[in-house]
Amino acid sequence: MAASQHMAELRPVTFLVGSLRSTSLNRAAANHARDCFGADASVKVPDLAELPLYNQDLETTGFPAPVADFKSRVERSDMILIFSPEYNYGIPGPLKNALDWLSRPFGAGSLIGKPVGIISVSPSSRGGENVREQLLKTCQILTDRTYGITIGIGGVGDLIDGELPDDDKQSLTSWLEMFTLYAEHSQQR
Ligand SMILES: Cc1cc2nc3c(=O)[nH]c(=O)nc-3n(C[C@H](O)[C@H](O)[C@H](O)COP(=O)(O)O)c2cc1C
Repeated sequence: MAASQHMAELRPVTFLVGSLRSTSLNRAAANHARDCFGADASVKVPDLAELPLYNQDLETTGFPAPVADFKSRVERSDMILIFSPEYNYGIPGPLKNALDWLSRPFGAGSLIGKPVGIISVSPSSRGGENVREQLLKTCQILTDRTYGITIGIGGVGDLIDGELPDDDKQSLTSWLEMFTLYAEHSQQR
């Protein structure tokens, strides 16, 4: 198959990573997930720090350019995966800000109809249970295709050569297989 034909078939997937730090456990999980999709998908990981803080006034003259680009990428995606730490029992600011932009305009947000999967990696054994619960609640009002089975990968210590430990990567791989099935099945409704 010609390369250009193959490229045209790549599934667009967007990852939202709630941690901005370079050695983030959640970013390492996103890197592993990108490897799992391999050549089957075109994965983009927008830099959430480039989005201005949400302000409803900014909607009156049209979305600011970084927001418009971000929303358009999400709207072209077949599925969305959220990788996020728990900050103070909740959703980190950059991610909440991104979700607030995606939720607009009211009733016509960018996540409508998108399968969304939620992952949290944490040094705590609880695996970010609070942030996963909050993300479920928020995403469920933004799309009717939020995957109800979130994955919390807890008790993670240091990265090994920048990667998650093997057993955690394996758990994520298995969960991704289930999520992908859900995303494909839910599209047929
Ligand atoms: C501001 C802040 C708040 C945090 N709050 C929580 C928390 O409520 N629950 C928890 O399990 N871990 C909490 N942590 C610890 C994070 O889970 C831990 O730093 C994690 O590695 C951050 O994710 P990252 O590696 O992807 O950056 C917090 C960390 C920070 C910096």
